[in-house]
Amino acid sequence: MSATCVVGLQWGDEAKGKIVDLLAEDHDFVVRYNGGNNAGHTVVHGDKVFKLSLLPTGVLKTHLTSVIGNGVVVYPPQLLKELAALEAAGVHVSNLAVSDHAHVIFPYHIAEETSTEQGNGSIGTTGRGIGPCYQDKVGRTGGIRVGELLHPKHLRERLHQIVPRKNRVIKALAPVDATDVKQFDADAVCDEYLGYAEKIKKFVKDTAYLLHDGLAAKKKILFEAAQGSLLDIDHGTYPYVTSSHSLPSGIWSGTGVPAKHLDRIIGVVKAYTTRVGRGPFPTELADGPEGIGERIRKIGREYGTVTGRPRRVGWFDSVATRYTAMLSGANEITVMLLDVLSGLSELKLCVAYDVDGERRTTFPSDSFQLERCQPVYETMEGWAQDLTSCRTVDDLPIQARRYVARISELLGLPVSIVSVGPDRAQSIPMR
Ligand code: GDP
Ligand code: IMO
Ligand code: MG
Repeated sequence: MSATCVVGLQWGDEAKGKIVDLLAEDHDFVVRYNGGNNAGHTVVHGDKVFKLSLLPTGVLKTHLTSVIGNGVVVYPPQLLKELAALEAAGVHVSNLAVSDHAHVIFPYHIAEETSTEQGNGSIGTTGRGIGPCYQDKVGRTGGIRVGELLHPKHLRERLHQIVPRKNRVIKALAPVDATDVKQFDADAVCDEYLGYAEKIKKFVKDTAYLLHDGLAAKKKILFEAAQGSLLDIDHGTYPYVTSSHSLPSGIWSGTGVPAKHLDRIIGVVKAYTTRVGRGPFPTELADGPEGIGERIRKIGREYGTVTGRPRRVGWFDSVATRYTAMLSGANEITVMLLDVLSGLSELKLCVAYDVDGERRTTFPSDSFQLERCQPVYETMEGWAQDLTSCRTVDDLPIQARRYVARISELLGLPVSIVSVGPDRAQSIPMR
């Protein structure tokens, strides 16, 4: 086998980081192909907790090469911050490659997003400048790529073209009565980024060649999706999505590795659903401080890794995940955080939606339609036991096994791993 992809099938935070970490051992490359430091992947090794936002989870395994592909947007101060935090934790990262084609996030992207996120039309973004940076990439006239940071004269000229225009945009987007509109100085931004460039230049490469050389040498590649498939720019719950292709379709464009090399696609799902930010969520449990939603949030520690925002929580939605399983091409699924559901007498699984008097089992194309969908539930018996020490299928109570089997049946995919806690050891192989 040459290439595997780990992809989230919900709205992100499915515990992709844990699965990537489990698989990384057997690979030579771990590659991020989309997003930026809007992602937050937590990995637990015994008493050590690592939180990675921009770096691929593979950096924790220093035998392999970690790659930030061209489809990623790079915020250099965050890259350096994460590298320094790892160094302080005793992880020395030397095998990192950052695509020279990847686009760079500048402070004016963050300021632009702060403006557009104020008021009615907000998406509930992570506020990291991701959307504006991808807009500049696609718009072409305002985008700057990592490779350009290594050419001081060229970078200064580009920033002198771009920054005055950005200042006008930021002014125009600000509320009319705003008194503290951020404005940027091209030379100051350039000097700051040249400082970052000095520190990251050793990592900058044409990563498409690097990966193809690896494939030619029969090296094994693991692709790590950021975000979840329902946040994919094309197939997610638009406009409440992120600005990149989180589905595996992003791999080809986001790394230069053609789809023909992918032979294993692992869809990661939580045993329930979470979502951060705005947008429709049919199975949301908005049932107050004493409700099941709050209970799951507390036990599952459902607070965003990047922003600390409480994650919205709901029952497992098989209509949504069957849709993303289909689009992702997943061959198998892993069911995560099953332990969090212990102690609930009944569990609900959404198997269809009712909308305008009709029952449907397909996912609607538009967020405004999804907003009106009422979930149709199947109820299953819960279990009382704590699952966190279970290590084999036989350790799981029969109700938990039935619940996982039903998810597998609804998605039409085998379950390869059930996770019952954050630690690597808390993973149950299912076949
Ligand atoms: P990612 O963005 O998909 O990598 O997921 P996050 O790291 O943002 O969120 C998943 C969270 O659940 C992390 O804090 C993990 O440490 C934690 N986690 C992973 N697997 C399990 C599990 O099986 N049970 C519990 N209770 N927590 C888990
Ligand atoms: P990981 O990789 C969960 C959400 C934001 C917001 C929307 C757009 O940890 O699963 P953006 O800043 O990307 O423009 O925000 O996408 N979002 C995530 N939600 N997990 C993530 O990443 C996310 N990355 C972005 O909350 O709703
Ligand atoms: Mg996350």
